[in-house]
Order: sequence, then C-alpha cells, then structure tokens
Amino acid sequence: MGTILAISSSPRRMGNSELLLQSFGLGIEEEGDKMVQVRVNDLKINYCQACDGCAPTGKCILQDDMQEIYPQVASAKGMVLATPIYFGGMSSQLKKFIDRFQCWWQAKYNLNKPQVALEEERPGYFLCVGALEKKAYCENALSIAKVYFHNVNYKYSDCLCYRGVDEKGVIKDHSHALQDAFEAGRYFALQSSPDTRKS
Ligand SMILES: Cc1cc2nc3c(=O)[nH]c(=O)nc-3n(C[C@H](O)[C@H](O)[C@H](O)COP(=O)(O)O)c2cc1C
Repeated sequence: MGTILAISSSPRRMGNSELLLQSFGLGIEEEGDKMVQVRVNDLKINYCQACDGCAPTGKCILQDDMQEIYPQVASAKGMVLATPIYFGGMSSQLKKFIDRFQCWWQAKYNLNKPQVALEEERPGYFLCVGALEKKAYCENALSIAKVYFHNVNYKYSDCLCYRGVDEKGVIKDHSHALQDAFEAGRYFALQSSPDTRKS
C-alpha cells in the first residue's frame, strides 16, 4: 500500500484529462494503492521568478501552496501527470507547476543533494488529451514531462494520449480510453511496488 500522486492540470473539473486520470486511479486502487489528486488550477502558486533564492539550499523561497506539494512529490511512490493539449503543448497550469521544481534542479545538479534518490526508480506516467489529430502536440507535451521526471529523479514509465477529444466529458464515449486508463493504472501500481520495481 502506497500513495501515487496525481497532478491534474486542466481547469475543467471532470474534464477529459481528469476523467482519464480518475480511471487510472481506480486501476491503482484495484491493486491496493491510493491515488491522491492535486488540481493545479486550485492551487495558489506563483510563477518561478528565477531569483536563484533556491541556489544555496535547494528549497524554493516563495511561500505559497507549492510548499505543501514538494513533500508530497518527495514521498509519493509514483506520480502521474494529466493535461489537456493547449496551443500544441501541455497546459500552462502544468508548465507553471513544473517550473517551480527549479529548486529540485538546484538540489540535484548544484548541491548534489537530490530530494529523491535516483536508485529508487519511482515511476512517472503521463496522460494527455487534445481536440485535434496532431500527434506532434502530444509529443511536445510529453517531451517536457520527460524532462520534468528526469530532473526530479522519477523514471518515465509510459503515456496514454488521446486525440480527437474536445467537448467536456466526451472521453466517456471513447470505445476504450477509460478502460485503457484503468488497466494502465493497475500496471503502474504494480510497477511502483518496491517488490516488482526491478523485475
Ligand atoms: C486554451 C485552449 C487551447 C487549446 N489548444 C489545443 C491545441 O492546440 N490542440 C488540440 O488538439 N486541442 C486544443 N484544445 C482543446 C483541448 O485540448 C480539448 O478540449 C481537451 O479535450 C480538453 O481536455 P480537458 O477536458 O481535460 O480540459 C485547446 C483548448 C483550450 C481551452
């Protein structure tokens, strides 16, 4: 039993990416783990100010809701990011969230004190949904997610990306998306269990 941290980054509550994420969460629960969802749009967070205030300590000096997020990322046994495609990439909510991990970049590369040990190989998963049939948009979003996982010492595991999905909730009419997400969540939970991680 462990906690998987889910970052939902659409402003639409129960929109397509969040519905996918919830099915993923049901799969996680099926395997006896717990998924804790954070809605980035509900957080009171600032943009990274590139102030280098984190350089000496690896800790962000901006006192906002991110201060409650850092310990959750440090203690989760896996993490899943979910985003709609906006203007050909991830939502600005998710990018803003990711940029706030510049302090972890400092901790890892300049202070040699990463918040998460690389050897732990905690898995990171990516979910995205877009209206257009443009694979490149999902790839744009995914490439940034991979950079994020690398910098916070999570190991990118896999992704599910659905295109041609636009109106709120229409992912429910997709023939297999929610079932795929459920199965992916199950597999992800097994992958992030310390017993099976290395097998
Ligand atoms: C500001 C904005 C920009 C968007 N840009 C794109 C885009 O570039 N490509 C695309 O395929 N869909 C785009 N969309 C459509 C959303 O990705 C689509 O509606 C998606 O299903 C929303 O997921 P959600 O319900 O989780 O918010 C955009 C939507 C908004 C609101």
